Amino acid sequence: MRLDRPLTNGQLWCYEDEAALYTAAARSFVETARAAIHERGRFVVALSGGSTPRGLYRRLASADLRGEVDWSCVEFFWSDERCVDPGDEASNFRMASETLLAPLGIRAEKVHRMQAERDDLEQAADDYAGEIGTCLGISPSDSPPAFDLILLGMGGDGHTASLFPFTRALNVDDRWVTANEVPQLGTRRMTMTLPLINAARAVTFLVAGESKAAALNAVLAGPKRGNQLPSQLVAPTNGWLEWLVDRAAIAFEPMGLNVAEEPK
Ligand code: 6PG
Repeated sequence: MRLDRPLTNGQLWCYEDEAALYTAAARSFVETARAAIHERGRFVVALSGGSTPRGLYRRLASADLRGEVDWSCVEFFWSDERCVDPGDEASNFRMASETLLAPLGIRAEKVHRMQAERDDLEQAADDYAGEIGTCLGISPSDSPPAFDLILLGMGGDGHTASLFPFTRALNVDDRWVTANEVPQLGTRRMTMTLPLINAARAVTFLVAGESKAAALNAVLAGPKRGNQLPSQLVAPTNGWLEWLVDRAAIAFEPMGLNVAEEPK
């Protein structure tokens, strides 16, 4: 089911339920990966964290899809990470490892973990930018490199990655990765910055559930106020932006937008 409302630089696709959303997101991921590997010999992707992507990662590792990608050509990064050990249940790395990387048998050298457990978080962020630069052959002092795909989620407050409302990281424009104090959570995070995210060839938001409807509506249909709704600041310079959402997260009908039935 596609919401017939093209975005300025992308498209929003709405699916009946989470199962349909995850299948569509997995197929989109596979298509993007196969195209990148065909064109450039590899697929450089940044995984998102939180709970929503679990269903996508499990779907990608499922029997009917896992054979669709040459996983040996994929470089896995993260868009953000909590300041916890990699084995902590809150770790985005752990979630992806359990649902995607381990089931697919991804080799360790292809997995680029954010070391957000380190005390010197800014240094850890700089080191991660260096790892991105090494992988993509670009110096962190240069303009941000283009990931083939950056996956993102969105919080109920409109944050994405660990770019939370009114936090310092929203204004970091001279680094690819940064530490970010998040007073709303009373913690610190490591996060990709907007210049790096907006340099991507493709960015996909995956948003599901009624709890996100108000924020999704505000982000996509409300006035521009990026400091309060950081997801509004994701606007790839030359890339494609897709929002993949389920029906529970859509509250657009009051806005008279048509939700077209996806051709079978
Ligand atoms: C994180 C994420 C964050 C997440 C949103 C949505 O580390 O938590 O990167 O940006 O995508 O908070 O989280 P849920 O999918 O759990 O709702």
